[in-house]
Amino acid sequence: MPAASRPRTPAWLRTAAFYEVYPQSFQDSDGDGIGDLPGLIGRLDYIRSLGCDALWLNPCFVSPFGDAGYDVADFYHVAPRYGTDADLERLFTEAHARGMKVCLDLVAGHTSTEHPWFQASARAGKNEFTDRYIWTDSVWRSAPAGLSQINGYGERDGNYVTNFFHFQPALNYGFARPDPAQPWQLPVDHPACRANREEMKRIMRHWLDRGADGFRVDMASSLVKGDTDFAATMALWAEMRAMYDTEYPEAVLIAEWSDPARAILGGFHIDFLIHFNHPGYSTLFRAEPHRDLFQFFRDMGGSYFDRAGRGDIRVFLDHYLEHLRATEGRGFISLPTGNHDIMRLARGRDAADLAVCFAFLLTLPGVPYLYAGDEIGQRYVDGLVSKEGGYNRTGSRTPMQWDASPNAGFSTAPAEALYLPIDPAPDRPTVAAQEADPASLLSLVRRLLALRREVPALGNTGPFVPLHAEPKAYPFVYWRGEDKDGAIVAVNPADREVRCAFTLPAAGLTTTPLLPTGATLQVAGTRADLVMPPVSWAIYRGRQTGSR
Ligand code: NOJ
Repeated sequence: MPAASRPRTPAWLRTAAFYEVYPQSFQDSDGDGIGDLPGLIGRLDYIRSLGCDALWLNPCFVSPFGDAGYDVADFYHVAPRYGTDADLERLFTEAHARGMKVCLDLVAGHTSTEHPWFQASARAGKNEFTDRYIWTDSVWRSAPAGLSQINGYGERDGNYVTNFFHFQPALNYGFARPDPAQPWQLPVDHPACRANREEMKRIMRHWLDRGADGFRVDMASSLVKGDTDFAATMALWAEMRAMYDTEYPEAVLIAEWSDPARAILGGFHIDFLIHFNHPGYSTLFRAEPHRDLFQFFRDMGGSYFDRAGRGDIRVFLDHYLEHLRATEGRGFISLPTGNHDIMRLARGRDAADLAVCFAFLLTLPGVPYLYAGDEIGQRYVDGLVSKEGGYNRTGSRTPMQWDASPNAGFSTAPAEALYLPIDPAPDRPTVAAQEADPASLLSLVRRLLALRREVPALGNTGPFVPLHAEPKAYPFVYWRGEDKDGAIVAVNPADREVRCAFTLPAAGLTTTPLLPTGATLQVAGTRADLVMPPVSWAIYRGRQTGSR
């Protein structure tokens, strides 16, 4: 691609660290038991103090909340339970005053069945919205295999295609290869499909003009149907990115795709590599389930980050390196600490295990993402009845644990009125307790994020080179930065002492631990010998004398 037409990347992404806020569980300010925007504004200083300077806010728009707000009924207005449109604008202003960015969640692929567009589309008579959702041409005709549908809704003679739950009808972005024998399958450039694209642009412009700094796009790979190679979907996002590059060059597009090579080359600035742990869930996003990422963190007993030490770093690494190489210089890969859809990282792990995970996650290239509460090791709460379509995700969505006051400082509502119960464990972690403890996970997270900024080699950009990554072996050791001026990171999640030898990228490096460690590193020429205690991590600066 000629340099002139290369997509631009906002400079702030080179040092950004994100914090994901699930608004209903973060901070309640009006005592109704549900988190809200004024509550979040009151906690911005805390988020900034972690070293995070960007927010990803889960959907906060008008919704019946069948899927926690991922079923939008009005993209242009804030759900009253979170506050007003003015509160959202105040969030932008207050965040910007602190040097922070705010990215919203764009549910581009579907709406709620309660959205007036869908209600119009479900009518028998032809109208502006008839083709804006995907309907077969008769209730006796099914959508092609691989698409889910609902039969017999309302007066319209046809079945509508859904993207997720039954009340989330798919907006029509067309079929990549419409079947000529099925004229209800529209091409991507049909006026109704184009109208949906334009509407999504209008929604983004609406909030970007009011101060938003970008969007995380829900199920970004799902828009064009039958798009087996994702070429049409990538072209769609390239069009959106062109709008960003021209009109909002400082704003960012973040994909929920989990296929960075496609998402970033398709136009996104950031994509996640999501280590889902719900068997089957990942198949919603990709043709093949990514067992490799599932295995990496959350397949307890067999994952690499597990005390049993039976994992295989190569399973993750080969996948990661493939995507890293394909996207280098074009966008950022993020491995989030968690999110509202996956098991809490703390599940089955103690503070020492979590420290190893964080030492790894916060020294990778790409943009770090913390899921609210992960920085204190907030736990997955077992046994909850599904809330707002959460099902087994519900346990990762309980209120933020701020302090030892009633409801952990989340809300002044009676406990039974809370959005979800607070973790009942008597030793549940809180922000207040961990702020007072220099050895806490919270303190470590702050130090690691500070280190990312102090030592540019450990930051969002710059080389990542495995130094010791043998199949089924521990530890995992990698280099960040330039050959003569960088950092060594080593992680040993296994509950046994491990040792290894590896080759440094240059001779004559002086190595100094950047944070206290129990590991021992000996260097002779380019040869390094490392001994690591059970469940440990280490980060060393490595510089040739004379380099700055
Ligand atoms: C992904 C979101 O993260 C999840 O919470 C939601 O249920 C589905 N997409 C459907 O929108």
